[in-house]
This record gives sequence, C-alpha cells and structure tokens, in this order.
Amino acid sequence: MAIQAVRGMKDLLPSEAPKWRFIEATAREVFGSFGFSEIRTPILERTELFARSIGEETDIVSKEMYTFEDRSGDSLTMRPEATAGVVRAFLENKLYAVPGPHKLCTIGPMFRHERPQKGRLRQFHQLDCEILDDAGPQGDAELLVMAAHLLERLGVRQVTLVLNSLGCPECRPVFKQQLQDYFAGRQGGLCEDCRRRLATNPLRVLDCKQEGCKEISQGAPLISGSWCESCGEHFDQVKRLLDQSGVTFETDPKLVRGLDYYTRTAFEFKTTQLGAQDAVGGGGRYDGLIEALGGPATPAIGFALGVERLALLLEDRPEWQQGPRLFIAALGEEPRDWAFGVAQELRRAGIWVEMTAQATSLKAQMRRANKLGASQVLILGGEELGAGIAPLKDMANGEQEDLPLDQIVDRLKAAGA
Ligand code: HAM
Repeated sequence: MAIQAVRGMKDLLPSEAPKWRFIEATAREVFGSFGFSEIRTPILERTELFARSIGEETDIVSKEMYTFEDRSGDSLTMRPEATAGVVRAFLENKLYAVPGPHKLCTIGPMFRHERPQKGRLRQFHQLDCEILDDAGPQGDAELLVMAAHLLERLGVRQVTLVLNSLGCPECRPVFKQQLQDYFAGRQGGLCEDCRRRLATNPLRVLDCKQEGCKEISQGAPLISGSWCESCGEHFDQVKRLLDQSGVTFETDPKLVRGLDYYTRTAFEFKTTQLGAQDAVGGGGRYDGLIEALGGPATPAIGFALGVERLALLLEDRPEWQQGPRLFIAALGEEPRDWAFGVAQELRRAGIWVEMTAQATSLKAQMRRANKLGASQVLILGGEELGAGIAPLKDMANGEQEDLPLDQIVDRLKAAGA
C-alpha cells in the first residue's frame, strides 16, 4: 500500500490554502497594528521546558507530548504549544534587557498526541501572541480586544469570550485547600488520575473530562469566593476596560485551563459550532512563569487561536478562488513566442497570466482558460499579431473588445492598480 500521512496530521491542499493565507495575513495585519513583533522559535525544545512550564500533571505533559531521545541521548519534545518556547527565547536572548512591555507573536505548527476528530489534530497550527513584562489590567484588556478584533476581521461570529480569574500565589493556596477539603470525602467517585492530582494539583480535577469527576466537580467551591483583594480588583478592571471597548464577554468561575502556568485572568473563546471542540482559542496571565524558568520576575499574558478551528468557522469567499487575470490563447508559433514574452512582463508587474506552452486548438485553449477561471482571454493568431490588434474577451459577461497589443501591459497594470 502507498505510504500515508501520519494519523492526525493533515496536508493543506491548494483548495484550502487561500483560506489559510487569509487567516494568517489578517492576523499579521491585526497583530502588527497592535505593535506585536514576530518571533519564531524551534519546533523541538528540551522536554524539561514543557514539563516545568505547562505542568507535569496536565494531560498535555503526561499524555500528549511527542517526546523522544535524540542521537545524543537528550530528551526532546515537539512543542505542544508556543508560550514555553517564546519565554525560553525571551530569557536566552536577554530580550528583557530592554524595558517592556514586549509584544511578541508567532504562527506555526504545534503537536499533541490526542485522539483525532473534527477540529482536533495531532499537528495543528496556532496564532500565538504574548505580552511579556506587563502587569496591569490594560495588558489583559488590550490582548482580548485584539483577539476580538481579529475574529471580527475574519468574519468569525458565534464565538463567546469566557473569562475567569485563577487567583495568585496569595489566594490560590486558600482555594486549593478548599478544593482538597471538598474532594476529600468524595474521592471514591474520582478517576485514578484525579485521586493522584488531588494531593498535588486539585485544580486539575476541575478540568477532568471523565463523567464521574465532572459530576462531583459541579458542587465544588468556586474560585471567585477566594480571590484576594488585588485579584478581585484586577479582574474588575479588566472587565471594565472590555465594557469600555465594546467587547462582550461572559464570566465563568468554573473555567480552568489545561495548562498550569496561569495566574489571574484566564479565558477561552468558545463556540457551539464545532461539536466537542468548543474552544477556538484560549489564554491568560502567567505572572510566575518567567521567574519559575530562571528569569527575572516578569508578569506576562498571552493567547493562542487554533488555525484549523478558525478555518472550520470561515465560509469560503469567492475572491479566494480567483483565477488568472489574463489567459493568452495564442495560435501559431510566432504569436506564442510573443505571448511568452508579454506574459513574463505582466508577471513581473504582479499580474497572474497563463497560456499554454503547446500548440493546441483555440477550443482546447478556451476550455483551459475556463477551467482556470481566467477573467479575460486575449485571442491571438498570426493575423492579429501582424495587425497589432487582437480581441480581448471578458469571461464573466462574454463581451469582446479589440485591444491594441502595444497597450496590453499598461491596460492590465492600470486595471490591477
Ligand atoms: P490551548 O488552550 O492549549 O492554549 O490551545 C489554544 C488553542 O489551540 C485552542 O483553543 C485550539 O483552538 C487550538 N488547539 C489546541 N489543541 C488542538 C488540537 N489538538 N487540534 C487543533 N487545535 C488545537 C495554549 O496552547 C496556550 N499556549 C495559549 C496561551 C498563550 N496562553 C498564554 N499564552
């Protein structure tokens, strides 16, 4: 049997590529207008980086990473997300030496060994943004406004921003204790993983997908009851700024994220359009991560949107399927040579021109022009070349005009401007 792609890893085919280009180009434009600079980090990182940042007890680290030993015996992992690598690069390259905030964005593939289904792949792509060295609620709000703005520009509707605050090192331990107390008498109903997590990281129990654990979690205490004064105030300010910016949101005191590095604001962009995969994006504040990875104490916040999930929510647009601006149907060797030269000139001006290299009939060439979706066809035989004037046919309405050949480059350039 012919060799097939790895399960959960998909080819991006030419028919889908324009949609992806639109998503990526719009994202770059929006991120640029908010002052984000691009950073590209390697796909492979030391396993330890993800274990220490995302958390040993998370599904990502404990079950989903592509980890292997390389030929030097180092344990390497294909990045399951971008934040850890961006933070590593920030520290390694001492980007913190310049005063912040540092706004960084990156677009690229991530890898998680999950069970593939609609909107869930093993190689998927994220649009990721991070603001490093920014503590204030304005940073949270700015990032969320930007994400909402991007979704709007993409035309992705039916997405709800859901917000929560996960507290800080001052108030989270209180909440942890409350959770431990609550679950202690209900351990029998929890899955094996959660019974283990209970001692180390009880918040993870709230994120468990097992039915039994979900049911018990229903009655668990809410983190909103444990926020310290400054976490409550921070969250209020974020909400106020979002209101001010006209960004609608909901709050959910039960929202916990699948990564352990979050503090305070955590959020997801949710949709009901993708079945079980309800998150188009997610993120939050991670004020302790940079220090935990050996850097200076640096508050930060970020998000990532999934490109595959965005693509599923986007309708195709006719302009993505546009064909060549001009097809030159040349009949005879001399017209073909002339067309070959003019085609290169037009292409240098950025105009998509097609022609057939072989001698074929006018009918065959018109069929090809149609198939490619050409906007206009120039029909050029020896006689037309001699007269210096040839019919230009508009393929949308069938209208034809005679075009002096010495004007063709200027005409198409002008029309393309
Ligand atoms: P995350 O929630 O794990 O967050 O992933 C963000 C988004 O990536 C998800 O909402 C989803 O759209 C997409 N995604 C995740 N896993 C898959 C998958 N298997 N197949 C398809 N799409 C997927 C993070 O990764 C954090 N690093 C976000 C962040 C940045 N937090 C702070 N800064």
